[in-house]
Amino acid sequence: MIDKSLQQLLRQTSNIVALTGAGVSAESGIPTFRDAQQGTWANFDPMELATLEGFLRQPHKVWDWYQQRREMAAKAQPNAAHLALAEWQEQLEQCLIVTQNVDGLHQRAGSLHVIELHGNLHRDRPISQQLPAEKAADLPRCPETGNVLRPDVVWFGEMLPEGAMEQALSAIEVSDLVLSIGTSAVVQPAASIPLHALENGVPVVEINPEATELSSAADWSLRGSAADVVPQLVAAAQLHYSRDRLSR
Ligand code: OAD
Repeated sequence: MIDKSLQQLLRQTSNIVALTGAGVSAESGIPTFRDAQQGTWANFDPMELATLEGFLRQPHKVWDWYQQRREMAAKAQPNAAHLALAEWQEQLEQCLIVTQNVDGLHQRAGSLHVIELHGNLHRDRPISQQLPAEKAADLPRCPETGNVLRPDVVWFGEMLPEGAMEQALSAIEVSDLVLSIGTSAVVQPAASIPLHALENGVPVVEINPEATELSSAADWSLRGSAADVVPQLVAAAQLHYSRDRLSR
């Protein structure tokens, strides 16, 4: 799966950006979004559960759903892909993880440099709108402002956290390899990250069991699961680090 030219690149690389999506947490038991049968959006309506309008209409329903997702994420364990990326981060000069996931599993695996493009499931933030008293009853409230709280995730039609994309794009411009792992590469602006790499002449490796919109443009499209392939990439690069250490 890892051909000679990729092996060579992995051994030379010291600065990586890894874009991750729901597929990286699939083997931790968290369903992806766009799988036709098991995907979250095959069974739930994103307009009800992942928009501000949906929250203002049915805040209790949205909170119940996020509470379940929180519990699922809290019970899940980081898998071999999360762990391998965390280990790589320790060895490389720079290894920035840019994730669309809100489950916090990269951090729980030990990764320190993580940009969360879509927020974090385990945090709350206050809404600025006022809800009618009967709708707001029993909802969690901000202790400082008294405003109703919502999950601190990015919903459809909302802005990404300030500076997150800018930081990701600048990191790509000085990187020597970009990985796109377990993402369908259709949701903007995250999907533009690997394309920005290609425009800047930075090689892109995709890891996904299925073909995506990115596959034909990527320099390598490795068809396999994240928990299987990411440790293989780190191991292939590792040969370089151990040889390097021996020669010092
Ligand atoms: P998707 O559900 O769109 O795509 C998941 C990708 O993971 C698919 O391409 C699968 O083929 C792949 N996949 C499945 N199992 C895998 C495995 N074991 N290893 C590697 N890849 C695997 O999820 P995202 O691309 O993350 O946004 O979706 C992006 C955003 O859309 C999410 O952050 C979420 C969603 O709506 C918001 O909620 C704002």
